[in-house]
Amino acid sequence: MDLHPDIERVLLSEDDIKGIVSRLGAEISRDYADKNPLVVTVLRGAFIFTADLMRAITVPCAVDFMAVSSYGSGVKSSGVVRIVKDLDTNIEGRHVIIAEDILDSGLTLSYLVGLLKGRGAASIRIVAFSVKDIEGHAAAVVPNYVGAHVPDAFVVGYGLDFAERYRNLPYVGVLKPEVYS
Ligand code: IMP
Repeated sequence: MDLHPDIERVLLSEDDIKGIVSRLGAEISRDYADKNPLVVTVLRGAFIFTADLMRAITVPCAVDFMAVSSYGSGVKSSGVVRIVKDLDTNIEGRHVIIAEDILDSGLTLSYLVGLLKGRGAASIRIVAFSVKDIEGHAAAVVPNYVGAHVPDAFVVGYGLDFAERYRNLPYVGVLKPEVYS
């Protein structure tokens, strides 16, 4: 496939992504046999990852969706998390796996974990498709399952956007800085 003109370089190809997702699915299937976990997708970015991950999980599982806003259309985490859409599922006593597209500061997830704990989940784990390596400071949460590490750049594709664009790219790539600066 031709590289999109706004993309500086590809970090994870379609083949890389397939390998990552099937490994994560196998790890989760091994750990959650007989637990009927609820996979909670953080919309919108994680919807493509979750769709693939669900098909790589071989044990019974369910899915529900939440939407939070922490970024607007900018590129820096505001630290302010607002629930835009809440779960429909009662999670009391459920084993919850939060599926996230990219973990940056971790502020979004740390807020969500606190919120879902307060609702009485039996356990809460995080599967992050990607984790940004940020020099000099640690993220607010540590994911239990990590797909890939990406450099501290603005990345798009495979669900990740800039101002709602590029989610449909089938690979993960670094956005050219001139596109957002
Ligand atoms: P955090 O709260 O700083 O961990 O931000 C997490 C959220 O910010 C992710 O779910 C994404 O929606 C968004 N985000 C962080 N970094 C990027 C990026 O490089 N590209 C696209 N979205 C990003």
